[in-house]
Amino acid sequence: MRNKVTVVGAGNVGATTAQRIFDKGYADIVLVDIVDGLPQGKALDMLESGPIVGSDAQVVGSNTYEETANSDVVVVTSGIARRPGMSRDDLLLTNMKIVSSVVGETAKYSPNSVHIIVTNPLDAMAQQSLKVSGFPSERVIGMAGILDTARYRTFLSQELNVSVDSVAAYVLGGHGDTMVPVVESTNVAGTPVSQLISPSRLEEIVQRARDGGAEIVNYLKTGSAYYAPSASIVQMIEAVLFDKKEILPCTAYLQGQYGIDGLYVGVPVKVGAGGAEQIIELSLSKEELSELKKSAEAVEELVDVMANSE
Ligand code: APR
Repeated sequence: MRNKVTVVGAGNVGATTAQRIFDKGYADIVLVDIVDGLPQGKALDMLESGPIVGSDAQVVGSNTYEETANSDVVVVTSGIARRPGMSRDDLLLTNMKIVSSVVGETAKYSPNSVHIIVTNPLDAMAQQSLKVSGFPSERVIGMAGILDTARYRTFLSQELNVSVDSVAAYVLGGHGDTMVPVVESTNVAGTPVSQLISPSRLEEIVQRARDGGAEIVNYLKTGSAYYAPSASIVQMIEAVLFDKKEILPCTAYLQGQYGIDGLYVGVPVKVGAGGAEQIIELSLSKEELSELKKSAEAVEELVDVMANSE
């Protein structure tokens, strides 16, 4: 029997995630969206690509949750993007309501699943999903760090003219603005990047990775990134479905690690069948630790706004 993955939100990120999984063929997929016909149409179109790409996976679209029952993994991408005139808090509270209603359903129908939260603001949405699902925190993980790290590695590989495979890096902290690259663990085939790139140039590269999401939005104008985000989600899905125990930068619930308690923050996580099976504590410099704490404070502010709205 194939694995089962539910993807909620049949927009750019959700549909591209579904397509990547479908093409690989190792899981059946249920695509859910609130818009009538959208998930059904995209799912059927994808299914009809099966004979060409050689996939026997099944993919169905739905506006309700019955079909999602007993999924192994649930990916939550449903939400709205910020529109002109909207504050960050407006976005926060709107997406909080969307994510709460979605996770209420998906957690009910797939009580043993691992949930991967993608909707922004990511860290706050993961926190809300934990609360609504009532799941143990290992089974609610946020996707951000893999994407931020991939952007950073892309720019480093271009700078040094080496394969992306030869660039190892970890990015911690919040998504985007407050991301914290761990300079000590950034290396090219074992050589610390600080020996290869000047500090000022490295800072420019870090800043470009921090602003990576905005750079894409500026080009696209009416949407945000989805190729690299969906690839990042799929890496997490594979770590869960194949119990890889891969150490990936993810947004996970900290309970004292790095001196942070009761908050979702981006850290290295061992991801396997149980979800976030272990939080890995890197030894950080004083400066990195204080930047990670700043990231956590930014998440806490959003969590407080959500709590006060209830
Ligand atoms: N239930 C199900 N689907 C919903 C709901 C809901 N309550 N509310 C909105 N949606 C759907 C929309 O109909 C839309 O199809 O979520 C989808 C979002 O898709 P896009 O607008 O294309 O957004 P996308 O680019 O996919 O980004 C989704 O991921 O990376 C983050 O910041 C991004 O929060 C955003 C999310």
